[in-house]
Amino acid sequence: MELHDVLTPAGSDAESVALLWWGFLLVTTVVYLLVIGALWLAIRRARARAPGDNGDLPRRDARSKTAVATAMAATVLVLLGLLAGDFVVGRAVLGELEPYGEAVRIRVTGQQFWWQVEYDDDIPSRQVVTANELVVPVGRPIQLYLRSRDVIHSFWLPALAGKKDLIPGITNTLRFSVTRAGRYEGQCAEFCGYQHANMRTYLTAVSPQEFEDWKARQRQPAAAPSTTEQQRGRDVFERSSCVLCHAIQGTRASASVGPDLTHFASRPRIAASSLPNSAGFLAAWITEPQKLKPGTNMPPTRLPPADLEALVAYLGSLR
Ligand code: CUA
Repeated sequence: MELHDVLTPAGSDAESVALLWWGFLLVTTVVYLLVIGALWLAIRRARARAPGDNGDLPRRDARSKTAVATAMAATVLVLLGLLAGDFVVGRAVLGELEPYGEAVRIRVTGQQFWWQVEYDDDIPSRQVVTANELVVPVGRPIQLYLRSRDVIHSFWLPALAGKKDLIPGITNTLRFSVTRAGRYEGQCAEFCGYQHANMRTYLTAVSPQEFEDWKARQRQPAAAPSTTEQQRGRDVFERSSCVLCHAIQGTRASASVGPDLTHFASRPRIAASSLPNSAGFLAAWITEPQKLKPGTNMPPTRLPPADLEALVAYLGSLR
């Protein structure tokens, strides 16, 4: 079950933001009820008076003045209170950055219409490159470095943290920690072109040990073909236009225009997490990407059926 809900927070930042939201809702509901109550009372009193009866005007004027002054003072106090809450949550969310060493550092690069995900490490050979799917350990601070290769995008995992823009030429940072293991859905939150709505992402939070195991697996070069069909699929991949955009570590393909496919089959979804990673969708995606995501930068690749099947089998073996 994927979580995609601001009000079911599972991250440090999202918990503060949800608390602020409930606080605002409570205060504004009380204010709304008081205002409607006062309005109802005023209408009832006006209706109760006979036409032409202005009552004791000077006394009523004085009472109205006091009532308006009190209401204004209360309004200012309530707004100041809300501002203070907003400020406190803002401080908590932005917070002081802890020493750089202990956070999981991930570079997320937005582009039309997918996310490149690179796990940073002081030892270059321990870096990991993947796409659209983040895996992180529960409890540890996660530090994202957000960049864009083309237009402005916005990274948003509603259950975990607030939105942060990815702006060409600027590196923005976003820091949060995940408090509950699970799978969380996110998406681009800034209109960035044709397939903005299908620029999706998932974050899977696992135990620290599972995270280390995952990273170790992702660092391995691509699995070698184990059947003749997979072997044929690899040959098809290497001599088709796929290699102009994609990389598979351990083969001749090393381009970084499109997602890195070294561990393609370990990702549950394809096409920026907008389609399930199944043989059928993959074959359709390779042949007619524009039909599934009009405006995507992936060109169509027409292959003889046997070649397409072999290619799908090979990609499906890259766990
Ligand atoms: Cu990227 Cu909207």
